[in-house]
Amino acid sequence: MLATEGLWFSYQDAPTLKGLTLDFSRYPVTGLVGANGCGKSTLFMNLSGILRPQQGAVMWQGKPLDYSKRGLLALRQQVTTVFQDPDQQIFYTDIDSDIAFALRNIGVPEAEIARRVDDALTLVDAQAFRHQPIQSLSHGQKKRVAIAGALVLQARYLLLDEPTAGLDPAGRAQMAAIIGRIAAQGNHVVISSHDIDLIYEICDAVYVLRRGELLAQGTPGDVFTRKAQIEEAGLTQPWLVKLHTELGMPLCKSEAEFYARMRAQQVKEAS
Ligand SMILES: Nc1ncnc2c1ncn2[C@@H]1O[C@H](COP(=O)(O)OP(=O)(O)OP(=O)(O)O)[C@@H](O)[C@H]1O
Ligand SMILES: [Mg+2]
Repeated sequence: MLATEGLWFSYQDAPTLKGLTLDFSRYPVTGLVGANGCGKSTLFMNLSGILRPQQGAVMWQGKPLDYSKRGLLALRQQVTTVFQDPDQQIFYTDIDSDIAFALRNIGVPEAEIARRVDDALTLVDAQAFRHQPIQSLSHGQKKRVAIAGALVLQARYLLLDEPTAGLDPAGRAQMAAIIGRIAAQGNHVVISSHDIDLIYEICDAVYVLRRGELLAQGTPGDVFTRKAQIEEAGLTQPWLVKLHTELGMPLCKSEAEFYARMRAQQVKEAS
């Protein structure tokens, strides 16, 4: 399991994360939302062992995280993070080597590496620019490469910090589908995003942060219907939730469900 217990983290004097107790192993897809600077990326860096809490702990497999080289290596075989800025993550100039890097490190056979890299590039729709130097790619294209680099590792936990920022609508839809597929295979995904509609639709549980503190938690339907609290966190409600709270329409989990229910109602009214 991956969790935090009473985790406090400070860069300097003032704490950035304030006593967070969170569990990412209870649901397939857990969302993390909050205004700019509330601490989402800092939390991801704590979860991946890059930053170390001054108080409390990151819990991994039921124990406080072991920060030795061996302990972190073990964590990173099971927990993969895609950071907010793709430049932070890309090391090579050619895409294939960059994505294959971590697999070579852990001794995966070359034929298997070639297959996994090819599958991941197809999944993120990056085949068209596969042979371009990475420096020449757009932000969204780099983001896709970074995501492919995480997918090839097939980790139990995939931590995605703003995975759809800079992606076009097709990329966003692909990302949602990829997350669904990873979760359906029995893995866990933790996703932070300002795309509140996406978080609402794809998450099973949501944590709302405000200035490093946990403001709310629960299912998306539960959390996002608490309008005052969502606004207090500097957020707005997902559009599907607004239709429910503002107009009394049924609370639907997806656009497709909403349209299907509306059509069914029209048919009923017409007959
Ligand atoms: N390296 C750093 N040194 C000092 N302070 C930092 C550092 N990185 C982040 N901070 C501060 O920590 C706080 C949390 O930042 P963080 O990047 O975790 O927020 P976030 O929720 O990811 O924001 P965003 O939505 O903009 O990505 C901010 O006040 C930020 O200024
Ligand atoms: Mg961030």
